[in-house]
Amino acid sequence: MQQEAGLRSASFAPGYDGADPAVDARTANWLDAVKLGFHEQRADPARLPALVDAYQRDGRTLTAVYDDLAPEAAWDPAVPVATYATMVNTLNVGGGRLVPAHLVTAVTVRPTHRRRGILRRMITADLTGARKAGLALAALTASEATIYGRFGFGAATSTAETMVDTRGGLEFTAPPSGSVAVADSAKLKFLAPEIYRAHLAGTLGALGRQHGYWMRASGTWSEEGSEPDKALRGVIRYNTDGVPDGYAAYKSQGWGTEPHTVKVTDLIAATDEAYRELWRYLGSLDLVDRLTFNHAPVADPLPWMLADRRRYRVAGVDDVLWLRILNTQAALEARHYSGSGAIVLTVKDSLGLAGGSWHLQADGGTGTAAALDGGPAPSGTAAVEIDVDALGSLYLGGVSARTLAAAGGIRGSRDALEILDALFSAGAAPYCSTHF
Ligand SMILES: CC(C)(COP(=O)(O)OP(=O)(O)OC[C@H]1O[C@@H](n2cnc3c(N)ncnc32)[C@H](O)[C@@H]1OP(=O)(O)O)[C@@H](O)C(=O)NCCC(=O)NCCS
Repeated sequence: MQQEAGLRSASFAPGYDGADPAVDARTANWLDAVKLGFHEQRADPARLPALVDAYQRDGRTLTAVYDDLAPEAAWDPAVPVATYATMVNTLNVGGGRLVPAHLVTAVTVRPTHRRRGILRRMITADLTGARKAGLALAALTASEATIYGRFGFGAATSTAETMVDTRGGLEFTAPPSGSVAVADSAKLKFLAPEIYRAHLAGTLGALGRQHGYWMRASGTWSEEGSEPDKALRGVIRYNTDGVPDGYAAYKSQGWGTEPHTVKVTDLIAATDEAYRELWRYLGSLDLVDRLTFNHAPVADPLPWMLADRRRYRVAGVDDVLWLRILNTQAALEARHYSGSGAIVLTVKDSLGLAGGSWHLQADGGTGTAAALDGGPAPSGTAAVEIDVDALGSLYLGGVSARTLAAAGGIRGSRDALEILDALFSAGAAPYCSTHF
């Protein structure tokens, strides 16, 4: 990566120093820099090995930018002034298709070094490398909505912050099925990833999870750090054949909270029945007046399950996954199509990674995208021009082409937009409850 004078960058795998069971200094310094960037407490050295173990399981690559010209009393120059990490995990792009996505995380630039183009250089080099390595999609979850559009990322999925009034217990319209058991936390740590795999396989927009999720679901780690969370409780739902197909983790917000509230920190269901039965369990907790869940689907079936739907409230909606198309042809051919039709897409990409024109034809769930390479578009086929960030937003069907056109990200006739919507809309809104 090209850097300005005095700055030096390096990429490495998180790791231990073979001779010392402690974390190696390079990784510890990198983690300390991330903590500075996100205004978190300094890392506790005793907890670093567990974090590094999790990072290794995630297959993370860490990138650091160092300032060799730091003044004398400045923080150790071995602590980077910028951090960036990547890993690959699978994304459900519809029809049960799982596609590897290049995930970007831990992006920080020290306040003293901001707005000098350090992020731009890191992300441009990284996305270019990921495309060369054969990845069709990149993704991230953003701290601020204003940063990543310029790099071609578009908001693609959202979740709802929900609140349910459970005073006197929740009544469900459908009869109960299967059973729910309070989990042995040590066992949930190993069962949760299996249940999640089934959820991932069946949920458009779901993304493979980092190791930290299993540590938190089981209370081995707290939400904020890697110390145990003694207040967290877990439950597992078993279907009528006794097969586990869902889990939830929750904790009381304390007796001082008015009304007494239980926060659901994670809830993963591989089937609709599991989703319903986990909520039935949570809604039956005595001494609890309110449940909150900050990662609910925007098309949440929960209010439709209740005898009194007005007990359910949405307090807010947040974007989760931001998608960046790296290779347009590969991305278009990877996804599932529920409609059929043909369109010419001209993609505009200021980073020069995904731009060009393609003739997309979809039928029977599968699409083929032929590059036009400057040649003429097939006559009679509708055509649109689309910005690469708008294509990222459209990709999972989380927003309609007409809405994106109204916002200016797609240019085309009304007929062309209707074709795009028939091709890309997927029915249920994509659902990703994974942050990274
Ligand atoms: C966000 C952050 C990484 C930006 O790093 P940076 O090196 O200052 O960014 P750059 O100088 O490369 O800026 C690149 C472009 O993004 C813009 N930009 C950067 N951060 C921005 C922000 N927070 N809001 C709006 N625009 C931003 C710059 O204005 C610049 O625009 P231009 O190239 O179109 O003129 C840095 O401010 C930071 O560490 N913030 C705190 C941690 C954080 O939020 N990280 C993101 C986690 S998802």
